[in-house]
Amino acid sequence: MGTSRGHHASATAVLERCRELVRPALVEAVGRLHPWTGEMAAYALGWADTAGNPDSGGSEGKGVRQALAVLGAEAVGADSADAVPGAVAVELVHTFSLLHDDIMDADALRRQRPAVWKTYGTGPAVLAGDALLAQAVGGLAEARGPHAAAAVRCLCGTLNTLVSGQAQDLRFEHRPWYGPGAVGPEQYRVMAEHKTGALLGCAIALGAVLGGAPDSTVAALERAGRHLGLAFQAVDDILGVWGDPAVTGKPVHSDLRQGKKTYPVLAALAAGGRAARELGALLESTRTIDGETAEHAAALVEEAGGRTATREEALRQLDTARRTLHEAPLTYSAAQELDALFTHMLDRTW
Ligand code: IPE
Ligand code: MG
Ligand code: MG
Repeated sequence: MGTSRGHHASATAVLERCRELVRPALVEAVGRLHPWTGEMAAYALGWADTAGNPDSGGSEGKGVRQALAVLGAEAVGADSADAVPGAVAVELVHTFSLLHDDIMDADALRRQRPAVWKTYGTGPAVLAGDALLAQAVGGLAEARGPHAAAAVRCLCGTLNTLVSGQAQDLRFEHRPWYGPGAVGPEQYRVMAEHKTGALLGCAIALGAVLGGAPDSTVAALERAGRHLGLAFQAVDDILGVWGDPAVTGKPVHSDLRQGKKTYPVLAALAAGGRAARELGALLESTRTIDGETAEHAAALVEEAGGRTATREEALRQLDTARRTLHEAPLTYSAAQELDALFTHMLDRTW
């Protein structure tokens, strides 16, 4: 998409600055875990290889959530250090959710490496996720300052929402592709807002809460983050069908094989026409989709306009996210950095 180089450069610099700021506390939090769950967490975070040795080649992920928390505090005029306990909490929750999500989705690859459940086994991966979740909530509850309790409430509300989103995502696998009982676009949006948007909204909101912002500002920032999440999930859905695993670090066509109700497929089916009808018949005819069938289904989704419609959805949601952001009374430079980060998040290979 038409993102300027300036945006890209400043977003990368913001991510790096926030990563440096948060890392010591994140390392300390992981260090408090039982050594075995800590080893799995370090592997998931790209810090260690499977033998527990430092791994300079591992991918830490983009660190978007910790950056959103830091910018959330700065945007309301607080010290970036105030956001650190919130930033740690959202990164830990994110890591936990990915560990469990890859088990639920039966995905064997994450960030270019075998998923934690593939490397250590399903039971240990569940436990490592639990450990990260407990540390996320516990660590935030211990934050200094007058806003820790409000921050924990915010995080716990988000955890409930995230779990509800994952429940919807899993239940949708068993819904028909079309006709009565099919998943509509609004139902998809609620699911995606819950599974992905809630934590992004929480990340910005936590920074603002810890920075002592008024409720109305916190609410606006959270809303902006949720729209960002919808944009982000739309791109994620595109990458799940047309992404290059060498770039995304995740399997391709896994959503199609799992019967996931993703935006591109739903939009393609809703478009009508020959490609949509052929796609519907193909998807409805079989529960087990092999590589060749998935390739054919992906071509039909594209032909029916599902890919284009999803890009448009992502851009609409990004636009709403940015507008919502600028409705809040924020400090100028943090608002600019948030805006650049929002745009950067969609600037992925699609
Ligand atoms: C992930 O949803 C949402 C959570 C982990 C809560 P997806 O299953 O769509 O994401 P990826 O494609 O595996 O990263
Ligand atoms: Mg998944
Ligand atoms: Mg999933």
